Amino acid sequence: MSNFIVKSQKQYQELYKASKENPEKFWEDFAEQEFIWYKKWDKVLDYSLSPNPDELDIRWFEGAQLNITENCIDRHLATKGEQTAIIFEANDPNEKPLHITYNELAKNVNKTANMLKANGAKKGDRICLYMPMTPELAYAVLACARIGSVHSVVFAGFSAKSLSDRIMDAKCNVLITADGGYRGSKITPLKEIADEALMSCDCVDKVIVLNRTNSKIAMEYGRDVWWQDEFAKASDICPAEVMDAEDMLFILYTSGSTGKPKGMVHTCGGYMVYANYSFRNVFQYEDGDIYWCTADIGWITGHSYILYGPLSAGATTVMFEGVPSYPDMGRFWEIVAKHKVNIFYTAPTAIRSLAMCDIDMVIKHDLSSLKTLGTVGEPINLEAWEWYDQHIGKSNCPIVDTWWQTETGGIMISSLAGVTKDIPTYATLPLPGIQPCLMDESSHEITQADAEGRLCIKHPWPSMARTIYGDHQRYADTYFSSFTGMYFTGDGAKRDAKGNYRITGRVDDIVIVSGHNLGTAEIENVINEHPNVAESAVVGYPHAVKGNSIYAFITLRGNSLEESVAREIKELVAKTLGPICKPEKIQITTGLPKTRSGKIMRRILRKVAAGEFENLGDVSTLLNPECVEDVIKGRV
Ligand code: PRX
Repeated sequence: MSNFIVKSQKQYQELYKASKENPEKFWEDFAEQEFIWYKKWDKVLDYSLSPNPDELDIRWFEGAQLNITENCIDRHLATKGEQTAIIFEANDPNEKPLHITYNELAKNVNKTANMLKANGAKKGDRICLYMPMTPELAYAVLACARIGSVHSVVFAGFSAKSLSDRIMDAKCNVLITADGGYRGSKITPLKEIADEALMSCDCVDKVIVLNRTNSKIAMEYGRDVWWQDEFAKASDICPAEVMDAEDMLFILYTSGSTGKPKGMVHTCGGYMVYANYSFRNVFQYEDGDIYWCTADIGWITGHSYILYGPLSAGATTVMFEGVPSYPDMGRFWEIVAKHKVNIFYTAPTAIRSLAMCDIDMVIKHDLSSLKTLGTVGEPINLEAWEWYDQHIGKSNCPIVDTWWQTETGGIMISSLAGVTKDIPTYATLPLPGIQPCLMDESSHEITQADAEGRLCIKHPWPSMARTIYGDHQRYADTYFSSFTGMYFTGDGAKRDAKGNYRITGRVDDIVIVSGHNLGTAEIENVINEHPNVAESAVVGYPHAVKGNSIYAFITLRGNSLEESVAREIKELVAKTLGPICKPEKIQITTGLPKTRSGKIMRRILRKVAAGEFENLGDVSTLLNPECVEDVIKGRV
């Protein structure tokens, strides 16, 4: 039993105190006790959180050597070789689920690793994975880690343009994709999208294509090979590459507030330590538990809490290929019953949409195996929390509301299941080792307990992103320039008298739609490409199921036809960025409220979109105050 896995409120307080007094000793002891290192570190932590990119630097466990797959796979084989590592539940409920043991996982990852090597992948290369949620995606992620290639997983719902931007940004030389991906009753033509993306990429010289849907696709001679052929040829023995703790493990893109997505860079040692630590503490996983996180591996939640966290802990993790609505809205609950899931982790947007269905969809499935529930990705409203608690947890399961980000690598603020208290709509307390604080707008720390402010983290933690790939300046500007000497999350939060945190939402130009981060600037850039658009402003507004949705205010050139433009813009955004970015509402307006320096006042537009016409603030200082009334009148 590890001393670092909290088992009581008292132990939480003791560990929290110890971690704050001496963070380096805290993380050193945990890292030393819980993992296989080929070589120990020379120094636990070296850092500067300076806003100057020449100085900004974070290094954990420098000098140490390891391979994360040794810790996620090999070390379990002696005692857990025949235990299931991954349960694969296919999109089609009639397709037989797979129970992949740790022994099988080891072989399959090694074969995939050798297949990658045979196709030109080397240590340090960036490999793009644009794949459906099949076990091969897990093998591919782990195979990259095994040979020291850097994986960049791109969610298989993204468009050709989004895919090609990400491939080019990371200069990937290998792409792994599939002929198609099942999503409910539809097939996403992944290879076709990838082919379109590759027309504007000159860096990819090998494409490995998994046959999943038997779709008719084109294969380019010399560039494209079939996964199944290459995999069959590969040996199942592949020694793990020796990696330095600060070597890159992966890049994962997240939306930014200034257009281009940011390739967050995570490194091998610190990420492994924190993914394992947070998984075991938050979910209180016990041997034999069946754990299911419903996220896609295309997002950070899938990286940390379908793969690396659970596998490093020797857990059994469920991977689901499909969607919650197929073949009916009871699918999640059917899977829980079928695999006797004990720990279930999903997003508020899924909870809200399932809560709107007939309750029979829930009642007819036996959910008695559940002992812990979790949520992630956005604030959960009280109504959804209560429904989840009552109908899924039968008022008998702790609910961990886990606050974290792509940038943080792992869960930062959350209750620990059944150990520390959960409070509806609150993420509650930081994990030991994490030091959040609230800052006011004039950059002062708010020290009183009961307060509201901008959420920052004061001290480095092992799994924080080290940079934005290829743009350290942007990393410094985005996260370290707003408040001196600390990491700024971009979120606002409230804190109660007992120190519990409640996340209120983003304070920057990022909108979270159905749990997906969307940068409003990126959407505006696409809308502005339409020949009839003069100017646009995109904001989020509250939506009952999606949490937020996208509202675009647009001014047109000349006398364009409003209706056709609105339709074309929706299509353009869906095609360029992917359907999740499509504006739900488009308002054509004659002017956008601007400051005297010409900046669009999004604050006012956000209120109009939300239907809050009072407290618009002082509009008299605007360059064009008269347009506010028009904007209000034209609200759709
Ligand atoms: O605004 C916060 C929200 O999601 C953002 C991070 O999004 P992403 O990098 O895509 O990672 C999502 C999965 C970790 C945060 O800045 N967010 C995430 N979890 C919560 C949340 N907001 C409120 N409560 C949460 N539990």
